[in-house]
Amino acid sequence: MLAMEYRGPYRVRVRHKAEPEIEHPFDAIVQVTRSCICGSDLHLYHGLVPDTRVGSTFGHEFVGRVVEVGSGVQRLKVGDRVLVPFNIACGACYFCRRELFGNCHATNPEATAVGGIFGYSHTAGGYDGGQAEYVRVPLADVGPTLIPDGVSEDDAVLLTDALPTGYQAAEMGDIDEGDTVVVFGAGPIGIFAARSSWLMGAGRVIVVDHVEERLAFVARYGPAEVVDFRRVGDMAEHLKKMTDGLGADVCIDAVGCEAAGSALQRLTGVKLKMQAGSATVLHWAINSVRKGGRVSVVGVYGPTFNAVPIGNAVNKGLTLRMNQASVKRHLPRLIEHIQAGHLRPSEVITHRLPLEEVADAYHLFSSKLDGCIKTVLIPPGAR
Ligand SMILES: NC(=O)c1ccc[n+]([C@@H]2O[C@H](COP(=O)([O-])OP(=O)(O)OC[C@H]3O[C@@H](n4cnc5c(N)ncnc54)[C@H](O)[C@@H]3O)[C@@H](O)[C@H]2O)c1
Ligand SMILES: [Zn+2]
Ligand SMILES: [Zn+2]
Repeated sequence: MLAMEYRGPYRVRVRHKAEPEIEHPFDAIVQVTRSCICGSDLHLYHGLVPDTRVGSTFGHEFVGRVVEVGSGVQRLKVGDRVLVPFNIACGACYFCRRELFGNCHATNPEATAVGGIFGYSHTAGGYDGGQAEYVRVPLADVGPTLIPDGVSEDDAVLLTDALPTGYQAAEMGDIDEGDTVVVFGAGPIGIFAARSSWLMGAGRVIVVDHVEERLAFVARYGPAEVVDFRRVGDMAEHLKKMTDGLGADVCIDAVGCEAAGSALQRLTGVKLKMQAGSATVLHWAINSVRKGGRVSVVGVYGPTFNAVPIGNAVNKGLTLRMNQASVKRHLPRLIEHIQAGHLRPSEVITHRLPLEEVADAYHLFSSKLDGCIKTVLIPPGAR
């Protein structure tokens, strides 16, 4: 089969690989019909995630058709059309029982923090991902969800990560009616966090980025007021001026460890790796939110440490919330929103490329060329 293959930082290609096989009675094999590239894949692509092995296949956002099931699988059958959450979860451990599927304790032997994730390095369990024609889906009775009527494959693939993550970002902000929410990042996650903030009662939504096309998109789709951070001197001061002088009620970090905006943070966090990525947005969020406000972090950071102004967070009495999204927990509500016409997540898709052009697709998305917001890869069998 054709599959994306990692060769080293900034180098990916498509190659022929052996098709995956059932390795355990709870496995299913899914023929992929759509997969996406995520901002999280860029951290792998840029060589920032420990133990990203040459030869591995990325892709944690995919939908497809079940072509084979293990003898123990009960809920799925051959022919089912499924969307597969990016979290690989057992459904039974201490954390899964509390719907913390992103923190499953049984699917990632390499870590006690994050659970297993498709195509996300050996730090997240070493599973091959879905930027391929076929993928092995472990614990197939837990994650995969039938694509319901009224939900297109393009909408479904955004339910595997981007939309639920943006939604959870807003949820963790604990938004009260009328609150002012500032979202850092106008990538797919930030766009969906902005949109979800309205669903949760926000009175005002402001999105910060420096990519003009993305700011223009979220201004309309959020909708949101937008701030280009290149035009701002002091972020906290600027946002306080824009609000009531006290700061935003909620700040959301939808950027993570590769944030731009501070040469020092980029040097220490990204180039020299003296901390687990640039902490610029954590500084901006903690310093811009009002006293007693909430900071919600879904942007990804590495497992070691970052230099953050924790004293300001303490003295301001902030609530900090953060996690990998637990996709499965949000699916019933988000599917309802799509079926009712309140949400059409596929509107963020700007590019569709054949799987064979995966190298171009990564370059395009990484460099934010051609107005790229979200890229979908389509394998030959699905065209
Ligand atoms: N927690 C989770 O479950 C989860 C799931 C998916 C993605 N993520 C993470 O969310 C983050 C965003 O993902 P994405 O797919 O939207 O990525 P993306 O790369 O498409 O978007 C990131 C955006 O942040 C902008 N940006 C850079 N520096 C900034 C700054 N200082 N202030 C404001 N904006 C800035 C970039 O210009 C870009 O538009 C990534 O870190 C990704 O790994 C987390
Ligand atoms: Zn993702
Ligand atoms: Zn579990």
